Amino acid sequence: MLNIGVLVSGSGSNLQAIIDADNISSKVVCVISSNPEAYALSRAKTHNIPNYTVATKGSAGELEIINHLQHHNVDLVVLAGYMRILGPELINQYQGRIINIHPSLLPKFGGPGYYGLKVHTAVIDNKEKKSGATVHYVVDEVDAGEIILQRELDVEQNDTPETLAQRILHEIEHPLLVDAIRLLENKVRN
Ligand code: GRF
Repeated sequence: MLNIGVLVSGSGSNLQAIIDADNISSKVVCVISSNPEAYALSRAKTHNIPNYTVATKGSAGELEIINHLQHHNVDLVVLAGYMRILGPELINQYQGRIINIHPSLLPKFGGPGYYGLKVHTAVIDNKEKKSGATVHYVVDEVDAGEIILQRELDVEQNDTPETLAQRILHEIEHPLLVDAIRLLENKVRN
């Protein structure tokens, strides 16, 4: 059973998927948002999960995040729609215990500048037949850490970036993130 700290910036649908999962023993023990208006904070409040906003950038912000994570004895940090690049303090402190979900089949369409609809626009512009999502470890290079799980779906003929994003989010990302956490739980157990 892992204590999970989730970093968010927006809607928090991936956070909700972890909260709702009935096939993992891990618990979300804190939610930290870069954005005070993030709906993800409301989701945390609804489930009485301690939640914080850390809008400060740079080292000061990272140290604030680390303090919250340590206060809640976090074992695993999950970036779920978190729109900030992690600095060296956090990555070093939680080396090998930070995962991110990215809405493409990495290494394709990943790295600096590939976030949100930009990912799906590039997939469609490139006439890709498949897309999907990837859960990977976070390292100092963006979207470049070891892949934990990846799952694909077909890009439909009439897909727009919006329709593709929604299908990947609901059909792929949410179950994939929970499956990745379960994989890590078993890894810790063995
Ligand atoms: C998702 O597409 C996720 O892959 C990306 O951020 C988007 C929003 O996620 N990292 P959420 O609804 O805030 O969890």
